[in-house]
Amino acid sequence: MTQQEKPTIEELATFCKKKGFVYPSSELYGGLAGLYDYGPLGVELKNNIKNEFWKTFVQSRQDMLGLDGSIISHQKIWEASGHLTGFSDLLLECSRCKTKIRADHFIEEKLKLQAEGFNATQLSELIKKHKLSCPHCKHPFSDISSFNLMFQVKVGAEDSSSSLAYLRGETAQLIFAAFDNVVNTSRAKLPFGIAQIGKAFRNEIAPRNFLFRLREFEQAEIEYFIHPKKNDFPYTIDKNLTINFLSEAAQEKKKAAEKVKLAELVKKKLLSEWHAYWLQETLIWFHSLGINENNLRIRQHLKSELSHYSKATFDIEYNFPDMGWKEIHGCADRQQFDLTQHQTHSKKALGIFDEATKERIIPKVIEPSHGIDRLFLTFLYEAYEYDKSRDNIVLHLHPKLAPIKAAIFPLLSNKPELLKKAKEVFNALKDEFHCFYDDSGSIGRRYSRQDENGTKYCITIDFDSLKQDDVTIRDRDSTSQVRIPIKELKESLNKLLKAEIKFESLGRIIN
Ligand code: GAP
Repeated sequence: MTQQEKPTIEELATFCKKKGFVYPSSELYGGLAGLYDYGPLGVELKNNIKNEFWKTFVQSRQDMLGLDGSIISHQKIWEASGHLTGFSDLLLECSRCKTKIRADHFIEEKLKLQAEGFNATQLSELIKKHKLSCPHCKHPFSDISSFNLMFQVKVGAEDSSSSLAYLRGETAQLIFAAFDNVVNTSRAKLPFGIAQIGKAFRNEIAPRNFLFRLREFEQAEIEYFIHPKKNDFPYTIDKNLTINFLSEAAQEKKKAAEKVKLAELVKKKLLSEWHAYWLQETLIWFHSLGINENNLRIRQHLKSELSHYSKATFDIEYNFPDMGWKEIHGCADRQQFDLTQHQTHSKKALGIFDEATKERIIPKVIEPSHGIDRLFLTFLYEAYEYDKSRDNIVLHLHPKLAPIKAAIFPLLSNKPELLKKAKEVFNALKDEFHCFYDDSGSIGRRYSRQDENGTKYCITIDFDSLKQDDVTIRDRDSTSQVRIPIKELKESLNKLLKAEIKFESLGRIIN
């Protein structure tokens, strides 16, 4: 199915609400823009994404350590990191009705050009040149001002400037601020990474596009520390890995993305080996969870849009059906910026002892950063299909991500012997897989409900099950069914979900 046949972002939001994936937060009291609650299916899908990240990038690697830093954090962290001065968006305010709009997004919408990263002078000139005015009352705007995105909180009963703290604007800073503690307690040796999954908060001027631009969202970030002088890259960049790449030069010349080999970009010194390595590992992870490589591209940041801490950034973008190419992952080369800043502001020596030179060094940092909510959108879009023959939506989620692995149905709800047997099957499986028991409505209706939930397998207990001690198992994607003995169910499900066996190998297809 093409991206054009997929739902718009509003249609996806409606689907998510109807099925219990995601609801507008505080809806009971009229809601709050940019905040959402994850419902029963949503929390499962989101947890599965986070678990896969943690398993792949933390638990199965020798060079990675985990952290769960606090959300409310010391004002000095954000002073040192530059967020209190450099983490702002430019704001337009109507001189009459006082409507406030994010300047670059307004200009992008009106003039159909890429304006993210433009400074106040560039944006003001465009407003003047194109005579842009308030979209509500058509009056001119006042001068452009800067709006800081950090959320302030007061800590404790004292109402003084020292009680001011911040909700973290990125999870990354908690890693830098805890760097010394992690190094001293884990005997970490370069190169190594610290990973963290958790909430981040930004007082976005205009949250929009459902889960895409939120005020409260979740990040999965890695700060990967490497020796600043040694050239000790122990991995390889796959010579055959081809990517869709949009270079800075191509953007300046308004050219399209090109298919290139990632290894070639390293050869041309467009990025370092470590930077390429983390983009490679992220792409491999995306592919392994079912994202079509044609829907992904790597975009090099223009110099004008680089964050204050970054020497070079490459975003991984996804081709959203109605929004087009948008960032789902950012990979920045933060060099020694953050640890140096924290060392200066805290007046404490940070860094790591280098046995070879017997000196303390500040490592360089490559930062692969995911937005979990944007990944949630991406996986849903990839999975979503309206199946004409079934006349319902099917979510072809990767089995590892599916909120429910198996649904268990007694064929009829008014036959106690079927209910009893179905509950026995449910109880036998529930400790190993997230299962769902359903005895309401016709079997066809129950199948389509589970297709829409992304449930990979449906297991039905019928009258033959009572005699033969077996069940039918139905595959979500093909709708094929086979009969298998109940005693083999757990092992077969395990192998199916890990893709160790094919569904057809279970037995004769009966439909
Ligand atoms: N530590 C680096 C950092 O925070 P970023 O590009 O601002 O860099 C990283 O954010 C990722 O966080 C983005 O790629 C995106 O997936 C996610 N993200 C950023 N702002 C977001 C927002 N307002 N709503 C949802 N996700 C967001």
